[in-house]
Amino acid sequence: MTSPTRTALTALAGVAATGVAGVAYAGLVERNWFALREATVPVLPPGSEPVRVLQVSDLHLMPNQRRKIEWVRGLASLAPDFVVNSGDNLAHLHAVPPLLRAMEPLMDFPGAFVLGSNDRFGPVPKNPARYLTRNYARPPKDDRIDLPVDELVDGLSAGGWADLDNVRTTVEIGPHRVELVGVDDPHIERDRYAVVSGPAADDVALTMGLVHAPYQRVLDAMTADGAGLILAGHTHGGQLAVPFYGALVTNCDLDTRRAKGLSRWWPGAGGNVPTQPEQTAYLHVSAGLGTSPYAPVRFACRPEATLLTLVSR
Ligand SMILES: [Fe+2]
Repeated sequence: MTSPTRTALTALAGVAATGVAGVAYAGLVERNWFALREATVPVLPPGSEPVRVLQVSDLHLMPNQRRKIEWVRGLASLAPDFVVNSGDNLAHLHAVPPLLRAMEPLMDFPGAFVLGSNDRFGPVPKNPARYLTRNYARPPKDDRIDLPVDELVDGLSAGGWADLDNVRTTVEIGPHRVELVGVDDPHIERDRYAVVSGPAADDVALTMGLVHAPYQRVLDAMTADGAGLILAGHTHGGQLAVPFYGALVTNCDLDTRRAKGLSRWWPGAGGNVPTQPEQTAYLHVSAGLGTSPYAPVRFACRPEATLLTLVSR
């Protein structure tokens, strides 16, 4: 073998080994390397006592994921004032009992939830290359597997959590009255914001929006109505991110800079009003705790839950 050929083969073997190591890391290490991220959000009226909201999202739980179940149960030690579950809990026909086991200690605290497409329809095998397309998470209508969504809703509701799928209501979070408004998952066009739209209540400390997939039409409508904070999931933070760059996709029409974490939103922020006006909402997108069982990898985007401390403006 000539020396240039040997050099090329050595380089190729090096690239292949790095690729294998990367996939092994993403599939075996980072996917299970759960993190608690914290953020402070100045959305309460001046002089308000801070309250803490725990957001869990996108567990995509398989019954055998004991590590994830125990980690989520452990979040109860944070003793939050309120818990938000932003959907996509399930990845298996028999995942409702283990999901409720994971949520059980959290249901000692008041909370609310919305559903994601993966609470209704089971995951189907997909070409991994579709991950980089906008339609990746949308289940093809023909091969949908129906999941026991009613059992999930009954279990979470029995714990006292408010079902916010196309619902507006008022709850107590710590010493504050907070208005909540939520929609069912826009990713499968089940959002009916029109039935819950209306100006934010003026006798509450905050109006908080909840949606699984942060589509612009819902973010625009909620902010136009005066929501001060909107919580969402769905994006998995891009799931496979580029170090020092970030997400490549959000699997919805949100821009990749807002794929996870805290940002600002205002009506038209996604396009026709690019400059931030004075009145804006905070948007928090959780990178979530799971993956599809058919793309069980995360890279530069650890699975997460978030503790949001709401403080005075
Ligand atoms: Fe998800």
